Amino acid sequence: MLREKKLAILGAGKIGEALIRGLLDANAIDVADVTVTAGHQQRLDLLKQRFGVNGTLSNKAAVESADIIVLSVKPQTVQSVISEISAVLKPTQLLISVAASVGTAFIENHLAGQIPVIRAMPNTPCQLKKGMTGVAAGKHALPQHVELAKFIFNSVGRTIVADEKHMDAITGLSASGPAFIYIVIESLAEAGVKVGLPRDMATELAAQTVLGAGAMVIETAEHPAKLKDMVTTPAGCTIDGILELEEGGLRVTLIKAVVKSTQRAKDLMEN
Ligand SMILES: NC(=O)c1ccc[n+]([C@@H]2O[C@H](COP(=O)([O-])OP(=O)(O)OC[C@H]3O[C@@H](n4cnc5c(N)ncnc54)[C@H](OP(=O)(O)O)[C@@H]3O)[C@@H](O)[C@H]2O)c1
Repeated sequence: MLREKKLAILGAGKIGEALIRGLLDANAIDVADVTVTAGHQQRLDLLKQRFGVNGTLSNKAAVESADIIVLSVKPQTVQSVISEISAVLKPTQLLISVAASVGTAFIENHLAGQIPVIRAMPNTPCQLKKGMTGVAAGKHALPQHVELAKFIFNSVGRTIVADEKHMDAITGLSASGPAFIYIVIESLAEAGVKVGLPRDMATELAAQTVLGAGAMVIETAEHPAKLKDMVTTPAGCTIDGILELEEGGLRVTLIKAVVKSTQRAKDLMEN
């Protein structure tokens, strides 16, 4: 789908690098068709050395020669990069922004023509091609633009198409979510140590258990509560653990964490 297309990644940091790796590993694009930008030459040199991509410190130059532009600078830098590139962006190009909290309307309002804009919200497991990305279309984006965005993010994991009103919630759930789950894994591992397991073994047991449980939910498409009931034999061990979780308020705590992250996503760009 990206053959014959030129891709520019403006601000190729963690997310940008994950996309480069995903697309090149999937043989979805020629390395000669990928241009990246960064804030510092050092970063460009590293990416050139690591992948063989083209690099420039000029966002404008990168955009001029691209069909698809991924904007992956920090939210606070979005406005200045947009003002750099707005004069050269054309309606035949596609702009995909992964910046948290930056709406498509904000970007469209700072652009001259009717530029197709897609907002995407990936997460860091994209680095291992196990990411989760939500994509939402701006007002000039057509179905083929959404398909292109899906294709790009499918190279680093799973992708869902969402209404833009859900993007801050997606940020709070699946973009922040890995941090919440690392705490769960760390706590399970700590528990393993408490009941006598060596730490390395406990961490591996905890992490693979989280991976496996996630895969069960996705691959069986069963409700998590049903899968939980299948583990919980009457008067067995698991129900005693579940009672502790309920008393400790794990559910409410996780719900509140996502609600707070979602609220923060709404104002991230301002401060
Ligand atoms: N990390 C996540 O979990 C995650 C999830 C979803 C969405 N996002 C969004 O993705 C975006 C990037 O996040 P990240 O974690 O990949 O950040 P990051 O690793 O800090 O990458 C940002 C990159 O932007 C470059 N940069 C800074 N100023 C620039 C400029 N004026 N022009 C061009 N490039 C510039 C930096 O280059 P130097 O290194 O040379 O300074 C850096 O490589 C953010 O908007 C974030 O909200 C992140």
